[in-house]
Amino acid sequence: MHIFITGGTGGIGKALTDLYLDAGHHVGICGGTRHAFEQLFPECPERLRFFDLDVTDRAATRAHIAEFCSGKLDLLIAAAGINDGAPVAGRSLDFDRAEKIFQINLIGVLHSIEAALENMLPHQQGRIAVLSSAAALSGFPQTPAYCASKTALVTLCESLALRYHDQGVSVTCLLPGYIDTPLARATHPNLDKMPFLVSSESAALTIQRAIEKRKLRVIFPWQVRWISRLLQLMPRSLFKILCKWSEK
Ligand SMILES: NC(=O)c1ccc[n+]([C@@H]2O[C@H](COP(=O)([O-])OP(=O)(O)OC[C@H]3O[C@@H](n4cnc5c(N)ncnc54)[C@H](OP(=O)(O)O)[C@@H]3O)[C@@H](O)[C@H]2O)c1
Repeated sequence: MHIFITGGTGGIGKALTDLYLDAGHHVGICGGTRHAFEQLFPECPERLRFFDLDVTDRAATRAHIAEFCSGKLDLLIAAAGINDGAPVAGRSLDFDRAEKIFQINLIGVLHSIEAALENMLPHQQGRIAVLSSAAALSGFPQTPAYCASKTALVTLCESLALRYHDQGVSVTCLLPGYIDTPLARATHPNLDKMPFLVSSESAALTIQRAIEKRKLRVIFPWQVRWISRLLQLMPRSLFKILCKWSEK
């Protein structure tokens, strides 16, 4: 298979890259610098290619993905993403950062999906997987743009899954809780204390299984699925108190 993973140098992306390389597939990745890539994959196998690609560049995303797969892509995993950084109580909302979050987390994913479809629809087959987040399910006060960008991805995936189902392309939306990665470590200095923390290797296995089964939406780990439901059903007043408490 030819698999392109945006953010393939990040925590979850790297674990997915290792998984698919071990299974014998051809993997193309982007994210970070070539130097960082070479440090991350010192014994880069022939089946792995790095692309110096910023997914907010629409033309470059289409060109690089087409070049990687020579016109036939089997799987796209859109994992490139950023968040607001470490929450600081009382800090005013950084609208520049918020705009960047939407550019990468939403528009960047849209560009990647466009590129993937161009190399899947002519063959009437392919799989697309998108990294949203459990943060998509509740609007947390510290991370408005991140939550909103991830919520948009859930609806985008639902629509695309319906739209392309009859043309052989499946769409899977992943909504993880806390995964142990550089992004999560940078955001949560006390990550080890975060509930139901999952390793990036374990997350990669869950994602791989979800893609294989062509699931539409997977919230994991299971504890986070139930907590998210609870938060959604909770009275707003109680949710507010919980948010205030978690800021401390
Ligand atoms: N870790 C968690 O707890 C968690 C939970 C829920 C959802 N997620 C989502 O899962 C995905 C992966 O997260 P992660 O924790 O593995 O993050 P990470 O370790 O920070 O990796 C993010 C990857 O995306 C790349 N990237 C960022 N902006 C890019 C751009 N404009 N073009 C191309 N690549 C870009 C990064 O490369 P650079 O070095 O260039 O930045 C990096 O390779 C994200 O979408 C995140 O929101 C993570």
